Amino acid sequence: MANPLVRTLARLTSFPVRVLIRPHRRLHAALWNVQYALGLWRYLDDMSDGAMPLSLIETWARQPTILDLGCGTSANLPLAGGRYRHYHGVDLSQRAIEAARALGRPDTSFEVADIRSYRTGRRYDAILLREVIYYLSPAESAALLGRLPTMLTDRGRIVVQIYDVARADAFVRVIRECGLPLVAELPVRLDDGPAGAFFVLAGASSAGVRPVPAVPTTDRP
Ligand SMILES: C[S@@+](CC[C@H](N)C(=O)[O-])C[C@H]1O[C@@H](n2cnc3c(N)ncnc32)[C@H](O)[C@@H]1O
Repeated sequence: MANPLVRTLARLTSFPVRVLIRPHRRLHAALWNVQYALGLWRYLDDMSDGAMPLSLIETWARQPTILDLGCGTSANLPLAGGRYRHYHGVDLSQRAIEAARALGRPDTSFEVADIRSYRTGRRYDAILLREVIYYLSPAESAALLGRLPTMLTDRGRIVVQIYDVARADAFVRVIRECGLPLVAELPVRLDDGPAGAFFVLAGASSAGVRPVPAVPTTDRP
């Protein structure tokens, strides 16, 4: 379950943070660094739902290459050697990226960058946006989703994870209306938490998009 302190702080500071801090990259990064330094996001590291994106990706790509945008420490993803070809994590927070690098997992690389302006010449079998889309504006999210197909392989797909679909309705609309084929919308409820979902999008150029087969959703113990 999400840390109640984080949730209360997020609710109280949502408007000033959105208007005064997020537009300024360095301030925004500093805010995330402070939150990681205070340990406010440590609870994420133990979450077992990290297994879900990997089993999901394996339904369309064995040994995938993965780009994780807003990866945090990435500790909750079970990146067992041999299960993926390469994993690249990107996050605004230097502190989160240092923690991610310290895990020393094979075939991983990390980068500090703002995903609102992130670009790469590489292509990936899966691009993850796990619990990060809310920290962009709906317009920024739409622009990001519009850019991602250029970073996908032919078989590649985008996975957007949303913890509370009801509270993120503006972003759910962005996902549904972004113009990319919505291949699957998989409900997931963590513990006694709200109804969340994984949204799987194909790249715009994907012809003959195949549906994602049933994947057991994770109920966190
Ligand atoms: C709630 S955490 C989720 C971390 C991880 N994806 C997970 O699900 O465990 C949100 C992460 O998004 C990152 N983030 C927020 N806005 C960002 C941006 N514009 N560019 C890159 N990372 C960003 C934060 O630094 C933080 O690590």
